[in-house]
Amino acid sequence: MKADMIIINASNIVSCSDVQGSGIINDGYIAVKDGIILDVSSGNAPKELKGENTTIIDAHGKTVTPGLIDAHTHLVHGGSREKELPLKLKGVPYLEILKMGGGILSTVRNTRSASKEELKSKAVQSLNQMLLHGTTTVEAKSGYGLDFDTEIKCLEAAKELNTTHPVDIISTYMGAHAIPEEYKGNTQGYISFMVDKVMPYVADKGLAEFLDVFCEEGVFSPEESRYIMKEAQKLGFKLKIHADEIIPLNGAELAVEMKAASADHLLAASDEGIAAMAKAGVTAVTLPGTSFYLMLGKYAQARKMLDCGVRVAIATDYNPGTCPTENLQSIMTFACFGMKMTPEEIIKAMTLNAAYAIDRNTEIGSIEKGKKADLVIFNAPNIDYVVYHFGINHVEKVIKNGNIVVEEGKIII
Ligand code: NIG
Ligand code: FE
Repeated sequence: MKADMIIINASNIVSCSDVQGSGIINDGYIAVKDGIILDVSSGNAPKELKGENTTIIDAHGKTVTPGLIDAHTHLVHGGSREKELPLKLKGVPYLEILKMGGGILSTVRNTRSASKEELKSKAVQSLNQMLLHGTTTVEAKSGYGLDFDTEIKCLEAAKELNTTHPVDIISTYMGAHAIPEEYKGNTQGYISFMVDKVMPYVADKGLAEFLDVFCEEGVFSPEESRYIMKEAQKLGFKLKIHADEIIPLNGAELAVEMKAASADHLLAASDEGIAAMAKAGVTAVTLPGTSFYLMLGKYAQARKMLDCGVRVAIATDYNPGTCPTENLQSIMTFACFGMKMTPEEIIKAMTLNAAYAIDRNTEIGSIEKGKKADLVIFNAPNIDYVVYHFGINHVEKVIKNGNIVVEEGKIII
C-alpha cells in the first residue's frame, strides 16, 4: 500500500504508546494513509510505501509527538479580566473576588451580552493560537452563561466551531461553575433549574458529552456536586470535577465514587483520594498554569500521584481569570519546575493521558498504527529542549487527520 505522507529521518519520535514510559523511537519514520497512521518504526521507510503522490517530510534534527490534547479549557467566553490584576497583586484571594461579584461572575456578564457570532470569533482566535502551538484536540466547557440561553449559545458556538475549525472540540456542560447573581442565596433553586431545564435539553440536543462541577467552598458543596452528577449520569453525561482546587473537600474521593473520567486541579487532594484515584483509574488533570497564575505557592502533587500509579494528564485550564493562555508549551515548563515532572512524563500527560481524560484514548494521543494522524513536528532535537527553552513556539509543522495545517508559523488551510 502507498502512503499519502511519510515523515522520514525523524531524530526523535515520542510515540507515547500505551506502555510504561513515553516510547521514544530514534531516527525513525511515520507513514500516514487516509488520515490514519499506517506505520511507525525506527530506520528507513520501506520502499513499497512510497508512491508518486506520497508527500515526504524530512524531520532530521526534529522531534515528532502526537498532536497535543488540551483536556481542560473554558474556551468560549466574552471579555477579559486584566483589570483584576491590581486586586490580585494586593493579595485579594480568588474566592473573595468571586464573592464580591467579580471573577467568574464578571465574565458571565460579558458572555451574556455577547452574540453567538462574537463569542465564536473570539474562540476562533484562541483555537488558532492552540493549533499554532501544537494542540489538535481541545475539551471546552460552558459555564460563563449560567442562564439557559447563554449556556446553550456557548455550547452551540463550540459545536459549530468543531465543524469549521481543524481543532477537534469535545464539549462539557458546566452550568455548575458558579451560582449566578439572580440565584444568589438560592443555590437549591439554581441546581433545580439546571437539573430540570438545562441538562435534559443539552443531553437531548447532543450539545455536550461531559458534565463538570466546581466543587469548592462557597460554590457547590460535595453533597450538591454529588446530586448534580447523579442526575447527569441518568441523562448519559460522562463526568468531570473541578476537585480540591483551593479548599480540601475530598473531591478526589467524590470523583472515584462517581466514576468520573477525570478529577481536575487537585492541589488540595488527600493522600487517600490520590490512592483511590490510582485504584479506580480516574485520570488526574493537573493545571500548573493555574497554580502559577493564582500565586498559590502550591502545585498538584504530581510526583506523589505518579508514584501511586495515578494516570496524570496536564492541561492549560485556558480561561480569562486563572490561566489566560492557550499555549501548552508554556504549561510544559510550569509542569516541569512546579510539579517536578520530566519532559517525557509531561508530553505523555498532554497526549495519551489527556486522551483518557476525554475518553478518546483509542483514537488519539499516541503515534501507533491505526490511530489518527494528528502529529506535531517540533523544531527541537529532543522533547527536553522544548520544555527547557521556554516562552517561545517550537512548532515547525502540525498535521491534523493526515494533512499539514500549520507550517512556518502559519495556519495553511
Ligand atoms: O478552572 N475554578 C473554576 N473555574 C476556572 C476559573 C474560572 C475563572 O476564574 O474565570 C478554573 O480555574
Ligand atoms: Fe477550569
